[in-house]
Amino acid sequence: MIKKSMFYIILLIFIAIIFSSCDSNNKEQVIKKDEKVIIGFLMDTLKEERWQRDRDIFVAESEKLGAEVLVIAANGDDEKQIEQAKYLLNKGVDILVVVPHDAVVAKKIVEMAHRVNVKVVAYDRMIEGDVDYYISFDNEKVGELQGNYLVEKLKITEGNVVYIGGANTDNNAHQFRDGAISVLDNYDKINILYDEYTDDWKTSVAREHMESVLNTTDEKIDAVICANDAIAGSIYSLFAEKKMKSILIGQDAEISACQRIVEGKQTMTVYKDVRLLAKNAAKMVIDIVNNKEINVTQVIQNDFKDVESILLEPIVVDKDNMMELIIKSGFHKSSDVYRNTNPDDRPND
Ligand code: BGC
Repeated sequence: MIKKSMFYIILLIFIAIIFSSCDSNNKEQVIKKDEKVIIGFLMDTLKEERWQRDRDIFVAESEKLGAEVLVIAANGDDEKQIEQAKYLLNKGVDILVVVPHDAVVAKKIVEMAHRVNVKVVAYDRMIEGDVDYYISFDNEKVGELQGNYLVEKLKITEGNVVYIGGANTDNNAHQFRDGAISVLDNYDKINILYDEYTDDWKTSVAREHMESVLNTTDEKIDAVICANDAIAGSIYSLFAEKKMKSILIGQDAEISACQRIVEGKQTMTVYKDVRLLAKNAAKMVIDIVNNKEINVTQVIQNDFKDVESILLEPIVVDKDNMMELIIKSGFHKSSDVYRNTNPDDRPND
């Protein structure tokens, strides 16, 4: 009798232990679900105007979705970017979003993150190696749009073209260049007079490139295609000092470039709506952490694998569609873009 009741007591204790352990597992899951996702955002630079917007919108959107973002910029320094990655991983971020300074060096960041089971998203610029996801614009198309504008819209199918590229260490710079040159290569009478990358996207280096072109040739320069608007700005200044004029093409739709365009100082730019990039990236990143399905638009081959990617569309902007694309979409204000123009020449909002 005693034995039987002992048996029931032990059975009850056993059942109670099983139930309480199930309960504590559930509690742990609930606690984990309620924890904030912490995103580490490693940026290369905040130098060009766009990156501040990328940062601000990415942070605001992630916070709206309930996450917290720790942002650090490396100011173009590889070692620093790796140290910053270590720092964020030690802080226990759930995921790393990286704008690499150098596509190859940043492989290390991916390796470090994977060692502690943290995924890495390449933001705007591809990283080599085993990076988990990539989100950007169709950067080869950016270059194609520049080239096509010259030959199709402006009908410049012969003459001397100078190409001033971006940083050799940035995969985008290669894609911009390849896109533009692939279009120009279809025209036998287009002479690519100069074609160089620009260390670290430095406008001073871009200016030196152009100076060396001017020092070595007396030929007319029919067009200059620049890998971004900051470079186009430095070429414009040099030409202005020398009282020269040429077709000038850039990309990024920076405010200063939009001003130059409506003032007739730059011919066109390519608009990449970084607001969309930052918003899509925030959603993508939080979905990755929560193991949700990611609606990738394509897979992009890096040196190592096919990387699941979201690529957004770049769009041509010139003075004709400035109002429609840039101002009506709120990318820049009319009062800023047309600041230096005669009020009578301004289109209506
Ligand atoms: C970006 C450009 C930017 C450049 C310099 C590139 O990777 O795509 O938008 O102007 O870096 O920061």
